[in-house]
Amino acid sequence: SASSAGGNRCVAAAEACTADAQCRQLRTEYVARCLVGAAPGDCVRSRCRRALRRFFARGPAALTHPLLFCSCADPACAERRRQTFVPACAFASPGRAPPSCLAPLERCERSPLCRPRLLAFQAACAPAPGSGNSCPQDRGRLCLHAYARLVGTAVTPNYVDNASARVAPWCDCGASGNRHEECEAFRGLFIRNSCL
Ligand SMILES: *[C@@H]1O[C@H](CO)[C@@H](O)[C@H](O)[C@H]1NC(C)=O
Repeated sequence: SASSAGGNRCVAAAEACTADAQCRQLRTEYVARCLVGAAPGDCVRSRCRRALRRFFARGPAALTHPLLFCSCADPACAERRRQTFVPACAFASPGRAPPSCLAPLERCERSPLCRPRLLAFQAACAPAPGSGNSCPQDRGRLCLHAYARLVGTAVTPNYVDNASARVAPWCDCGASGNRHEECEAFRGLFIRNSCL
């Protein structure tokens, strides 16, 4: 219920997951795997990401997706949403500058696990011809589903701040040289996507 969380839908989604044994178990597992210990770099990113993939693969979507896609009207809620999937381990490398998006993109394309998920995401989330800047309703659900399957891969996306609902993998296109367009096309599918 929204009231139990003071209107914070991300808290409500976390409570709903906790109330379900399977969702709670899978969430406990990824939090344990992804928690950054006392020293920076403590977490094993590959294990964290595997646990996140299991969360979305095995947990009921009716409970896992609201945690990822809860809607927020204030920064406190959006900050909680941004932190939900432990970005310090799963997403960014704190204290370092983000790499060029071409690096995670290439890692994904070489990965038998990531590549089909990225292709599915590109197919489901590419702007539909003639739809302008809007997201057709039937497409929206497919796109969100494909997006959730990227969490825990080489191109793991997350919310980029607590002031918007913008999402992207942790990378930029500043140093992409003569492949700047390719880089922007990849990043734009997240950053400038009305279905997300
Ligand atoms: C939102 O993010 C900014 C920048 O990272 C941070 O300083 C601020 O404390 C955050 N706000 C909340 C409510 O967590």
